[in-house]
Amino acid sequence: MATIVGSITTSHVPAIGGAIAKKRQQEPYWKPFFDGFSAARDWLATVKPDVAVVVYNDHGLNFFLDKMPTFAVGAAPEYRNADEGWGIPALPPHRGDLDLSWHLIESLVAEEFDITTCQEMLIDHAFALPMELLWPGPAPCPVRTVPVCINTVQFPLPTPARCFKLGLAIGRAIESWDSDARVVIVGTGGLSHQLDGQRAGFINREFDLLFMEKLVGDPLWVTRYSIPDLVELTGTQGVELLMWLTARGALPGDVNKVHSNYHVPISNTATGLMVLESI
Ligand code: DHB
Ligand code: FE
Repeated sequence: MATIVGSITTSHVPAIGGAIAKKRQQEPYWKPFFDGFSAARDWLATVKPDVAVVVYNDHGLNFFLDKMPTFAVGAAPEYRNADEGWGIPALPPHRGDLDLSWHLIESLVAEEFDITTCQEMLIDHAFALPMELLWPGPAPCPVRTVPVCINTVQFPLPTPARCFKLGLAIGRAIESWDSDARVVIVGTGGLSHQLDGQRAGFINREFDLLFMEKLVGDPLWVTRYSIPDLVELTGTQGVELLMWLTARGALPGDVNKVHSNYHVPISNTATGLMVLESI
């Protein structure tokens, strides 16, 4: 059966794509953010995953307000990045893993998650940029991928408890996949940020750091909050932390923190990074 090697959860901000394209990683503004990733890459070099299940939220590139699935899973041979209007160069496509995609879809539906299956799927900055940070080009990305997309754009959003349960079901699906593949869970989004409205620029460092701490040993802690609570506490886009919770749910048993980094701000976002593995 397949092995889950651990999870990497990280923020995603389109401006990171501009910084990579303009080679700004060593500039004082960017360095504390980019430096956080070397430990995650070192860990990846040790655990050597073959496949990444990438839990992320689309921002209007693949799904728009006319059709908005709560949960969607990719089942495509390849996932292309495309222009979202941020003015950053598109990154190369990612290889899919059809066998894991369909196994995951069948397992999730059998567990009563009514997901949308996508045999064509464009991936936005929330998928492409964290993957570029973890496996920088120009070498082709060495892992195959399965995207899992969660709606954080149009209300109603899934509850934190539901996302954690989705994560548990993803973990069970991977562990019942008849394969010798090594699988890493990548979750991208958050932490606290609000891009528009009266509270634009809102950041809650105290909450973010507590969330990161609780995610390790008490991930259900955050399920005490409703989605409106989380909007209040973390900003309208801070609810993207649901991706972290889902990724954490997929890890079997108790976990250890391998690495974490927290830096405020990149653009309008409190950026976090965390590597976890099962004990
Ligand atoms: C920013 C953050 C995001 O999560 C996003 O999807 C877009 C922009 C930002 O801080 O600029
Ligand atoms: Fe986002």
